[in-house]
Amino acid sequence: MNDFMPLEGWDHVELWVGNAKQAAFFYENALGFTRTAYAGPETGVRDRASYVVEQGDIRLVLTSGLRGNNEVSEFTCRHGDGVKDIGLQVPSAAEAYRQAVQRGARGIAEPQWVEDEHGKVELAAIGTYGEVIHTFVNREEYAGPYLPGYRSVSENGHLSPGVGLKALDHVVGNVELGRMNHWVGFYERVFGMTNIVHFGDDQIQTEYSALMSKVMSDGSGKIKFPINEPAEGKRKSQIEEYLEFNGGPGVQHIAMQSEDIVRTVEAMKERGIAFLDTPETYYEEVQGRVGEINEDYDDLERLRILADRDEDGYLLQIFTKTAQDRPTVFFEVIERHGATTFGEGNFKALFESIEREQALRGNL
Ligand code: FE2
Repeated sequence: MNDFMPLEGWDHVELWVGNAKQAAFFYENALGFTRTAYAGPETGVRDRASYVVEQGDIRLVLTSGLRGNNEVSEFTCRHGDGVKDIGLQVPSAAEAYRQAVQRGARGIAEPQWVEDEHGKVELAAIGTYGEVIHTFVNREEYAGPYLPGYRSVSENGHLSPGVGLKALDHVVGNVELGRMNHWVGFYERVFGMTNIVHFGDDQIQTEYSALMSKVMSDGSGKIKFPINEPAEGKRKSQIEEYLEFNGGPGVQHIAMQSEDIVRTVEAMKERGIAFLDTPETYYEEVQGRVGEINEDYDDLERLRILADRDEDGYLLQIFTKTAQDRPTVFFEVIERHGATTFGEGNFKALFESIEREQALRGNL
């Protein structure tokens, strides 16, 4: 079968935020990113300011509106700070757009070429869950810092040593009750992805609430989009809490790979990042469950890093607390040793940790 939607990799994740100037400071100083490009009034953009920050192969764009009657300001009013765009590199944005729309995707921006003195980039965009979009980016003929209209700032700013984050691993969406399979179908039909993991509500059942999750992956395994939906439980599902505060579906977390998670987590903690805690009982049984690993289990326990296994290998994970006052977006650090999917043990541990935070917020 020919691959009608070849994805070359992640291009960027753009967050629309209330104050991009201060957000950029957080991403640089707390998460170890380096500021590389800027667009705003000084570069001829009248309605918004955007800061590009990078670490390893990860590129994030932080944008805020400059006036109230602006789509960015209106988005942050409805959702708080959140992910607007998950950008994907493709060989042809026009072909990706044509294939996607033909398969039922909602067109957001028709294919167009934009250019400046560094070359040209081809862009197109389609809608996914909530107000999130996927921009298709073909940047083969572009040598500039990000996109035409952006000014490089890296030669002036200090280069951050970073915390060892290397690449995006997956980006997770939360959708409404009964809608998970709709979006699973969307990623199957529009992107030709397959469902590689499925956790039912019988598996992800914490004391009070439940949820269901399916992980969609492209053929290469580079791009993974897990989709969660709430399930009936004794009390309000944590996915319901997200949907209430986000004002609908959206991105729950962004997972980034490290090749040395112990060092990365130590560096992030030193910079003030707060992680979800994991109970002592997890560490009493983890070694028996996961078996031999290269890392020292004492380091994992000290830093509250989770370990799990699938049929191909093991993985280490940890989750930050939410990155803004609304209980919505947070980050994950993941280190994979052969494992290509996710383990059920960590899934459950994550949702139990979130539930403890949810109770502290009075939303359980
Ligand atoms: Fe994750």
